[in-house]
Amino acid sequence: MNWKKLVFDTLESTNNTAVGYPPFTAIMAKKQTAGKGRYGKKWSSPEGNLYMSVVLPDAKETNNFLPFIVALAVAKSLKNYNVKLKWPNDVLLNGKKLAGILLEKNDAGIIAGIGVNVSSCPTSGLAYEAANLNGAVSCEGLMDSILDNLNLKLQELYKNSFTNLRREYIALLQGLNSQITVNLPNQKVVGIFRDLSASGALILELPDKTTKEITTGVVFFMD
Ligand code: BTN
Repeated sequence: MNWKKLVFDTLESTNNTAVGYPPFTAIMAKKQTAGKGRYGKKWSSPEGNLYMSVVLPDAKETNNFLPFIVALAVAKSLKNYNVKLKWPNDVLLNGKKLAGILLEKNDAGIIAGIGVNVSSCPTSGLAYEAANLNGAVSCEGLMDSILDNLNLKLQELYKNSFTNLRREYIALLQGLNSQITVNLPNQKVVGIFRDLSASGALILELPDKTTKEITTGVVFFMD
């Protein structure tokens, strides 16, 4: 598919602007005045980093997998870097957060917002450490590469569902077979991150050796 690209100097949030555009529209802003992160957090958005949103086809057979394939597309676009994925869809460099993805669904479709710390990142006020690329890539070049990779991953998803993509995703996962804490909406659980289910759930082995499938939560590594 050919993406229709729209580039703006300043937007409140590319995710908000994307609402109402048809699938395969990509919106980019050089900076955002009200960038949104997951769980209602703010996403610091000064000039120099990549802020983009893509409108994706809304189909119940594929929607569950979109968080994973967007993360994969971002990671594949940064192939010169040793990036890893933090379940479900953060991109890490040296264990620190380099990119975040916010998926939002509304009547018009699914919007995936992608923020990549190209030139700078917050140094305080976060629950995690952040990384940036010291301006080593161009934001527009990175956006084009992400759109190309998204096309490839979407084609694979439509052809073979999540089977091969799951393997690709697992190969980049941080923390597999190590102890993690997962903050769930109402509790914290600790266990060993054993696998990713066929539907993308995190499979956690609990201290009593039973397993728990987690579909929503925030992962913290123990080392
Ligand atoms: C996260 O909390 O990890 C998700 C961050 C998503 C940030 C991007 S920047 C482009 C798009 N517009 C927004 O307002 N948020 C997303």
